[in-house]
Amino acid sequence: MQTVVVTGGAGFIGSHLCKHLIEDGYRVICVDNLLTGNEKNIAALLENPHFEFIDFDVTRPEAELAEKLPESVDFLFHLASPASPNHHSKLSYHALPMETMMVNTNGTLNMLRLAEKYHARFLFSSTSETYGDPLEHPQKETYRGNVSTTGPRSVYDEAKRFGETLVAYFVREKGVDARIARIFNTYGPNMQKEDRRMIVDFINQALTGAPITIFGDGKQTRSLIYVSDMVDGLIKFMMAENLKGEIINLGSEFEFTVQEYAEMVKKLTDSQSEIIFSEELPKDDPLRRRADITKAKALLSWEPKVTLEEGLKKLIEYFKST
Ligand SMILES: NC(=O)c1ccc[n+]([C@@H]2O[C@H](COP(=O)([O-])OP(=O)(O)OC[C@H]3O[C@@H](n4cnc5c(N)ncnc54)[C@H](O)[C@@H]3O)[C@@H](O)[C@H]2O)c1
Repeated sequence: MQTVVVTGGAGFIGSHLCKHLIEDGYRVICVDNLLTGNEKNIAALLENPHFEFIDFDVTRPEAELAEKLPESVDFLFHLASPASPNHHSKLSYHALPMETMMVNTNGTLNMLRLAEKYHARFLFSSTSETYGDPLEHPQKETYRGNVSTTGPRSVYDEAKRFGETLVAYFVREKGVDARIARIFNTYGPNMQKEDRRMIVDFINQALTGAPITIFGDGKQTRSLIYVSDMVDGLIKFMMAENLKGEIINLGSEFEFTVQEYAEMVKKLTDSQSEIIFSEELPKDDPLRRRADITKAKALLSWEPKVTLEEGLKKLIEYFKST
């Protein structure tokens, strides 16, 4: 049985990834310090003999983690990082700036060193935020981005960019088989109300009858991918042969305005909430974002399958039941 380590495995995407890997027949070790994740995301997995949870901060020296790991590790997914951009959330990277910078730089370095030690294949969960407020649309992997090095989002965007630089170094200089997935906005069950990402806020406002609050004029666009499609893409990318050093976008090709998302949520929840436009768009908030997934389709034979309506219904049910 092959062993997979998932850092950030108690978080939103990581918990789904752990579950799918176990179903695929791997032994899974989830490494997480529960900074923005939640043990309830992995509660059902803890009963499984092929699953183990290690409470550990990956910015600590990797030798401390190696003491807790088995003798061989075959694959290492590095997902640990705060991910919410909402400046009102205590779980966002704005509220956790130092933790975010450190986990994506020091943490990535430590995990790459572990991958080198174990001869494990490594996948770094980077982000579409490496493209910043893009001047090219949709964004291909070759686009180098329009990112502020010092703006409020830089603690996340630039840390991820340096994380990518570390990955490229370990591929070039240390022979590690490492890959970079640029993840675009993902949604689904196990998202936390408190991290207040756009779709989470819209659904919870709609379900409680509170005003559905849009930042800016609502004409900015987002493309959202359902979590099962994301996890499928991440696993295919990791398990494919001959992709050492590759960067691949994983995201949805469908783009809607923020106002359209608000209207869809209102309709699907049958809510009486009114839609209001509350504040200026936060500084450096991207106006347009959509993945070009030509490369993923070609190299991984992958594309998203879940429609927005199906996915939103599942997330709405999840929030109704929690
Ligand atoms: N969800 C998205 O839309 C999205 C988009 C782009 C990129 N990503 C990336 O995907 C990854 C997972 O995102 P998510 O949405 O599941 O976020 P999440 O906050 O739900 O999960 C991240 C997990 O990492 C853990 N973590 C944070 N710092 C840690 C540390 N120092 N040591 C150990 N564990 C630590 C958290 O406790 C949490 O469980 C992140 O790297 C994020 O940057 C996510």
